[in-house]
Amino acid sequence: MPSDLSPHLLGQGPLWPIEIVRGRNDRVWDAAGRMFYDFYGGHAVALTGHAHPHIRKAIGREMRKLIFYSTSTRLEVRERAAAALAARLPSRLGQVFFSNSGAEANDNALKIALKVTGRGRLIAFRGSFHGRTALTLSVTDDARLNAPFARFAPQVDWLPFAGDAGWDRVDFRESAAVILEPIQSMGGVHVAPDAWLGELIQRAHAAGCLVIFDEIQTGLGRTGTWFCAGAPGLAPDLVTMAKGLASGIPVAATAVTPEIASALDPHDLGSTFGGGPVAMAALLATFEVLERENCLSAVRQLSQKLVTAINRLPGCTALGRGFLLGIRSPRPGRWLCDELFARGFLVGPSRDPAVVRLLPPLTLRSRSVDCFIDALEDILGDPG
Ligand SMILES: Cc1ncc(COP(=O)(O)O)c(C=O)c1O
Repeated sequence: MPSDLSPHLLGQGPLWPIEIVRGRNDRVWDAAGRMFYDFYGGHAVALTGHAHPHIRKAIGREMRKLIFYSTSTRLEVRERAAAALAARLPSRLGQVFFSNSGAEANDNALKIALKVTGRGRLIAFRGSFHGRTALTLSVTDDARLNAPFARFAPQVDWLPFAGDAGWDRVDFRESAAVILEPIQSMGGVHVAPDAWLGELIQRAHAAGCLVIFDEIQTGLGRTGTWFCAGAPGLAPDLVTMAKGLASGIPVAATAVTPEIASALDPHDLGSTFGGGPVAMAALLATFEVLERENCLSAVRQLSQKLVTAINRLPGCTALGRGFLLGIRSPRPGRWLCDELFARGFLVGPSRDPAVVRLLPPLTLRSRSVDCFIDALEDILGDPG
């Protein structure tokens, strides 16, 4: 355990008492040579697993050509990456702006909405997490994180997530945008029903309020489809992505409709590192891996197997969709994380103390799922 963590490092301590030194697909090894099945994916980033040969090759090839040049020049690989992303997004979200982190993608989305509508209020949901920049913290429902900055925040109105209406509490006509995660992850893996999402979008659009889907966790195939946006009735105006978009090389993106794109000026958005060549090559290679290896259909199948096994355990409920899953058990989540860790499985907590989160690579192997189910049954009781 790195109890001798450098005094020069600022920030939170590690989640697990190990030092990870290498990884291969859905497994990682610590400095003592111990192997762990990675059902956490480094905060949902290891979309194609760890050190996938195709990703390594694509990054290496690009690095030998050009490590970096900014958006002050045209780059062929950037244009191909934008086209590849647009091809998987709903057709009306065909223009993307590249940045470097989820918070930045959301910050840009909120900034765009404030500018395009000329309105000053925002609508957000209880249980949300959208990032740690000043603007994204203001729509994140976590007083521990945002209370010190409350005086800088724009006006935000809060609604219960996927709850019984409460629509009258907010005035969509005054609001620039409503921002939400189609499945709240950090908040405890809450799925918004499509009918509720559809009604929200209808109400917002009828009042000229833009809808931002934060798909930083739900996007890119994690739920078994490329995005939650694009399902019948679900046509948000902006979608944000990050996490595993380039398999661990930092890339984020904000996608917008043509109407929004045409209302923006060239100086509205900018980023030194956004859209760099190595990151763009990694993004293209990520889509190639996910498609060649049929990952989306594997996610749907293996997720079903996990859900069935979890629901069979006494007092347990599976939450979520695809590979964004939660386990609600009668035991404290932190205890379950520790028990799984002791058996060689990495999983994550959530803000709900009874819910443990699984965010494994989309390349997760069937035999790793079997080992995980055996461990869960061992810990939480024989399903009978
Ligand atoms: C739904 C969601 N939005 C935004 C963010 C912020 O992303 P980042 O940490 O890359 O800034 C996260 C990070 O966990 C997230 O899960």
